[in-house]
Amino acid sequence: MNYSRIAGTGSYLPAKVLTNRDLEKMVDTSDQWIRERTGIEKRHIAAADETTCDLAEPAARRALQAAKVDSGEIDLIIVATTTPDQVFPSTACLLQQRLDIHGCPAFDVQAVCTGFVYAVAVADNFIRTGSARCALVVGAETFSRIVDWSDRGTSVLFGDGAGAVVLKASKEPGIISTHLHADGAYESLLRVPAGVSKGYDLVQEGGAYTEMRGNEVFRMAVTTLGRIVDETLQANGLQKTDIDWLIPHQANIRIIQATARKLRMPMERVVVTVSEHGNTSAASVPLALDVAVRDGRIQRGETLLMEAFGGGFTWGSVLLKY
Ligand code: ACO
Repeated sequence: MNYSRIAGTGSYLPAKVLTNRDLEKMVDTSDQWIRERTGIEKRHIAAADETTCDLAEPAARRALQAAKVDSGEIDLIIVATTTPDQVFPSTACLLQQRLDIHGCPAFDVQAVCTGFVYAVAVADNFIRTGSARCALVVGAETFSRIVDWSDRGTSVLFGDGAGAVVLKASKEPGIISTHLHADGAYESLLRVPAGVSKGYDLVQEGGAYTEMRGNEVFRMAVTTLGRIVDETLQANGLQKTDIDWLIPHQANIRIIQATARKLRMPMERVVVTVSEHGNTSAASVPLALDVAVRDGRIQRGETLLMEAFGGGFTWGSVLLKY
């Protein structure tokens, strides 16, 4: 039986920082409101000429270095993103070229904020079935490009960044289980209406930006993430106390605290980075993972629960031994 095991992690945030104080000058908001309602203090914004692949590349290189894996060993590349550089080739193919990797499958996964969890689940299945032995999985976003910076309901929440893992085949776990869900019935609560097939005319009408009914999304996120935690524990016959670290999607500190309460987990065992970069969508879980691996909090052999919720709606979890 093959398992896939995280061999290395990496992340990257663009240089430009936008603080809550900066936002006070752009929309009718306050540093206090943003901190109290979301836990966010600042976010990083890609430069005008910096693309999602530009963020993905350093994150991927850091993960390869941490894993002590040469790029020639990679036999699968998956990039989770909602904000690809261009319609095609996929950002995964663009990244493959940057890393001078040739021939292995490379494709994007689009599940908005749950994208990285989806991508890890796909890569895990490739490795379990023997179709791949060494996968590069990246979550990368220039989400700032699909934010209406005059809308205080969304502009205070999002930022740009990238995180990556190298997954290697192993006889020892590794990823224990993955759980993926979606329900397209909620499209009207969270969406960017414009797109390739609907036509770019909508862009002129403001349709290129994220529309969100924040309060309703918030309630759905809290209940749904509570359910996915239960589902993951039950599927593996585990108790809440068996989880060493919760690595949640970094959207809002209040959603994270609600999930931690559900797990009866003290906040010291929850990796929280939302204050530093806001909601970076598909990048948020691997960004948080990389921070806690590099600062030594997460140790080999510990049990991690990663979870996410996002547009679609999509939601999911990954349970693993690090
Ligand atoms: N600054 C100041 N006031 C604001 C701001 C702001 N930036 N935004 C909204 N308000 C006001 C509202 O107008 C409202 O005023 P009113 O009472 O006079 O009408 C008041 O604050 C409360 O608004 P709510 O929307 O009820 O505030 P809430 O506590 O729900 O927080 C937030 C809003 C932060 C957006 C929250 O609902 C949230 O985090 N939602 C979930 C977002 C999320 O997790 N998305 C999931 C993934 S995203 C993805 O997949 C792309």
